[in-house]
Amino acid sequence: MIINQSCSMIIFGGTGDLTHRKLIPALYHLMYQEMLPEGFAVISVGRQKKNNEEYREELYQSVLKYSRFPMDKTIWDQLCEKIYYRAFSFDEGDGYESLKADLQQMDQVHHTRGNRLYYLAVSPENFAPIVEKLKEHGVTAKRGCWQRVVIEKPFGQDLASAQQLNNRIGKVFSEQDTYRIDHYLGKEMIQNIMVIRFANTIFEPLWNHQYIDHIQITAAETEGVGSRGGYYEKAGALRDMVQNHLLQLLAITAMEPPGKNEAEAIRDEKVKILKAIHFPKDSIVHQHVALGQYRGYHMEEKVSPQSTTETYVALKLFLDCDRWKGVPFYIRTGKKLQQKTSQVVIQFKQPDKTFYKECESGCNPNLLVIKIQPEEGTLLQFNAKKPGNLQQILPVGMNFCQNCNLENNSPEAYEKLLLDVMDGDASRFTRWDEVENAWRLIDEISSSCEAALVEEYLPGGWGPEGAQQLIERSGHRWWNL
Ligand code: BG6
Repeated sequence: MIINQSCSMIIFGGTGDLTHRKLIPALYHLMYQEMLPEGFAVISVGRQKKNNEEYREELYQSVLKYSRFPMDKTIWDQLCEKIYYRAFSFDEGDGYESLKADLQQMDQVHHTRGNRLYYLAVSPENFAPIVEKLKEHGVTAKRGCWQRVVIEKPFGQDLASAQQLNNRIGKVFSEQDTYRIDHYLGKEMIQNIMVIRFANTIFEPLWNHQYIDHIQITAAETEGVGSRGGYYEKAGALRDMVQNHLLQLLAITAMEPPGKNEAEAIRDEKVKILKAIHFPKDSIVHQHVALGQYRGYHMEEKVSPQSTTETYVALKLFLDCDRWKGVPFYIRTGKKLQQKTSQVVIQFKQPDKTFYKECESGCNPNLLVIKIQPEEGTLLQFNAKKPGNLQQILPVGMNFCQNCNLENNSPEAYEKLLLDVMDGDASRFTRWDEVENAWRLIDEISSSCEAALVEEYLPGGWGPEGAQQLIERSGHRWWNL
C-alpha cells in the first residue's frame, strides 16, 4: 500500500504555547531528518494580527530555543517558506471561507493533494465550534483525499462532557479520522514497553500475578502549575494526568498481548484493562487514594485562595482479571516534587525464603524498572553473591540507558505522532472507548473522593504523608529511583 503523506496542516492556535514549544520544533526536526513529505504546507490560524514574515520570525526564535537539533538556516528556510499565518477569530465565517481558498492554493503551490490535517491546539471549549465551522463552510468536503483532525487534551472534563464533545466531533469526522492525542503515547520508552514485553521471551511468561508482587507507575514533576492555574483549578492531578497519561501507561503495561501489531487490536486490549480497573466504594476509600496540594499553590496565578484542588494524587488499584488477580497497581503523580521522573517499576515476588538464611527476612526484590524520562532505559535488579569467603547476597543492577550517550538524541513525542497522523496510523492515539472508560473510572474515583482530605505537602519532597501510608499499609514502599 502506498501511503500518501502529502498534506496541508492547519494549526488552530497558531500563536499558542504548544505550537511554539512543540509543534513547529517537531516539524523542524522532521525536516532536518528528511522525514516530512514532499508535498507539505502549514497554515497557522490565530486571533492576533500579524503577517507571514512576523510570524515566521517568531517561530524561528522558538525553534532556536526548543529544538533538539542545531539551527540549520538552509533547512529552516525550506520549512519556513511552507508556513503561512492567517488571523481570524474561530467563530468568524469569512475566515473559514478564505481558509478554504488558501488550502486550494496550497494544493497548487505545495502539491498537498487535497489532504488535510487539522490540528486543534486551542482551549477545549473551541474544539467542537471549530470543527462545526469547518463543516459549515465546506472546508472538509473534499473527496478523494484524506481529512483528519487531531485533538489535544483534555477531551472533556468528565464522562458527560466528553460524550457531548464526541457527538459533536463525530458529526464531522469519523472515528477513524479523529486522532485524540496523548503525548505520552509518543514517548520512546512507552512505545518500548510493548517491545520489551512482546519481542523477548524472558519477561512475558513472568508477567502475571504468579510472579509479580505489585506495579508502581510514577509521573513526578518539579514544576508547579505555572501560568495554567485557571485550567488546573478545574482539572487537578486526577483529570490532568491520571485520566490520560497514567491510565494509558497502566493499560499498556497490563494488557494481554494483542492478536496483531495493529491499532485496533492494541486498542481493544487497552480498553479491556480500562474496564477491568476496580476502585472500591466509599468505606475504604482512604486506603486507596491519597490527595495532596503543594504549599504555595494558593499563591499561583488564577488559583482561588480557598482551592482544594489536588496537585498530587496516589491511587491503589486492582484489576478484575485472571492475569492480575490480587496484584496492586500503585499510581502517583504530582507537581513540585523532588525530581522530574516518569517510570514503571515492576516488583517481582520474593523467592523461597528458606533456601538462603540471608534471605530469611526477605531478599531484595527483583525489579524491572522502565525509565520513561528524563533518563530512557531499563534497569533489571537481581540478587548475586558478593565476591569473598563470606556468604553475602547483594542486589545488583543491569542498566540499559538509551539516551545517556549524548549522541543519542531521542525524538520528541510530537515528531512521531505527527508522522503517525500523516500515515493514518492511529495506534498511538486514544480511541473513543478508551477515553470513555477512562472517564467512567475517573468520575467514580472523584465522586468517591469528594470528602477525602487534600493534605498539604512541601515542595521538593515526595508528596503528602498519606501517600506513604497508602503504600506502607500493604507492606510496600515507593521506589524513588
Ligand atoms: C500535560 C499536563 O499533559 O503533561 C501537564 O497537562 C504536565 O500538567 C505535562 O506538566 C507533563 O508532560 P511531560 O511530557 O513533561 O511529562
